[in-house]
Amino acid sequence: MRVSVAVKYSHTLLTDLTTSSDTIIDATLGNGFDSLFLSKIVKSVYGFDIQKLAITNSKKTLSESNNVNIIFDSHENYKNYVTNYQGVIFNLGYLPTSDKTITTTSKVTINTLDSMIKDNIARFIILVVYPGHDEGMIESIDLLKYIKIITNYSVDVKTFSEDKKKPYVITLLKKDA
Ligand SMILES: C[S@@+](CC[C@H](N)C(=O)[O-])C[C@H]1O[C@@H](n2cnc3c(N)ncnc32)[C@H](O)[C@@H]1O
Repeated sequence: MRVSVAVKYSHTLLTDLTTSSDTIIDATLGNGFDSLFLSKIVKSVYGFDIQKLAITNSKKTLSESNNVNIIFDSHENYKNYVTNYQGVIFNLGYLPTSDKTITTTSKVTINTLDSMIKDNIARFIILVVYPGHDEGMIESIDLLKYIKIITNYSVDVKTFSEDKKKPYVITLLKKDA
């Protein structure tokens, strides 16, 4: 599997920002690769996806991990499963090599993000956005608008121009001390 520079960077952030006693939310399981990475460095992971294929694929990827809770539900409902968490990653978009119409959407993503910002307990929230498809572009624009109104987290936005016209955007929100 080709791992993009942006995904590698998001994993570097996860390594730097987590401790072995943390519980982390992977808001978008996909094929389970972010959760697999996390499972090796934190205490427990709660991974969500709304797509059956993603759940099937993640179960395969995570067959040897015993600290990942694979949840077939939207991340909007995270509070039904986990209330004490120290960090979150959203790797937004559609399941690679699958149905591109089943994608994260701006409204749902921002609803969940807003709820987490109001919880005010995560030390960090990482958002990986790919504006190279229609919904990703909308999500990217709306997220950049939304983060301007956050007051309890510092915001750092980086772009990765593997494809110069459509760079990945990674937003790191870090809780103010
Ligand atoms: C880019 S993929 C995630 C990649 C993944 N983190 C990995 O390591 O393979 C985005 C995933 O978000 C899922 N998704 C879309 N809307 C969602 C929602 N409301 N809650 C949870 N997952 C969602 C899609 O089904 C898709 O599998």
